[in-house]
Amino acid sequence: MKNSSQVISLRKPDDWHVHLRDGAILKAIVPHTARVFGRAIVMPNLRPPITTIDSAREYRKRILQSVPDEIEFTPLMTAYLTDDLSPEVLEIGKEEGIFTAAKLYPANATTNSAEGVSDIRLIDNILETLQRLGLPLLIHGEVVDQDVDIFDREAVFIEKYLEPILNRYPELRVVLEHITTEDAVQFVESSSANLAATITPHHLHLNRNAMFDGGFRSDFYCLPVVKREKHRRALRKAATSGKSCFFLGTDSAPHTRSYKETSCGCAGIFNAAYAIQSYIEVFEQENAISKLENFCSVYGARFYKLPLNSDSITLIRQNTIVPNSFKFKSEDQSYQEIIPFHAGQTLSWSLKEGFEM
Ligand code: DOR
Ligand code: ZN
Repeated sequence: MKNSSQVISLRKPDDWHVHLRDGAILKAIVPHTARVFGRAIVMPNLRPPITTIDSAREYRKRILQSVPDEIEFTPLMTAYLTDDLSPEVLEIGKEEGIFTAAKLYPANATTNSAEGVSDIRLIDNILETLQRLGLPLLIHGEVVDQDVDIFDREAVFIEKYLEPILNRYPELRVVLEHITTEDAVQFVESSSANLAATITPHHLHLNRNAMFDGGFRSDFYCLPVVKREKHRRALRKAATSGKSCFFLGTDSAPHTRSYKETSCGCAGIFNAAYAIQSYIEVFEQENAISKLENFCSVYGARFYKLPLNSDSITLIRQNTIVPNSFKFKSEDQSYQEIIPFHAGQTLSWSLKEGFEM
């Protein structure tokens, strides 16, 4: 990584957690991820979810068809775990180079998770298989019990489910996705090297006041929900700590404006378009630019046991004004809008394409 006060040039980053959707919205958003990131771990929570090798293969094809010709981008596919997924799917899916990881959604924890796992005790055979295959388990770490406060769901999940999983499967590599609390930071730091966590840009920028600032702000509603300020601070410290157990995962999760701004709005923040600039703002504010490249481009690949990207991206200190919305034509020919994270704000760095490292 080369940097000065005006230029940052870093090894091409990867996004270790992203929602690319399908159909017209996929076509509209993939270029945002593909122009910055070399690879991305693609979430399988489509409708229906990606539970077979064939559906993952077909989905990967549709993603690649949506990537502009001049861009090289590798989508890494994940299997959506259900109560009765056969371990063979993982075994063969890995062998055929289709699955890079498996995703555990507790049933009904978030968007399109109804077919997720209803009881973690039912998937011992899957966990055993993942451990044996060396395939990482990616976890949406929230309990769904109605008597647990929504702000406590991650911390309760860690104690009730994550710790026992790690104890029972000590060789299983696990990513606790999009961590949001000091509890998660401390737990990941004090666990073995087989546990890592991704951290999103929005959880580094927002505390829970943002969701209620002058009225309900659906643009800042995601799951797990943003938490108290002390948690945001803990996440910023973790991301910029230089510790290899924390790495980049945007959890960019677009929903059209009409699905966000309604009486039961969808959870998710679309941050892919300016994710790298968003992270850089945080690393600069925390005086930790020297830690940026490992977080964005090294620790995740190492955890997944994949080679580092060899090309680079360059950013220059030049203001970027984030658009208020992106428009695209949906399947029914109507124009739909997606509101990006930082909409209307000015970020201090701009991407410069095709620069030598
Ligand atoms: O905010 C979120 N949106 N969190 C998730 O876990 C899922 C995602 C989505 O798919 O919209
Ligand atoms: Zn996600």
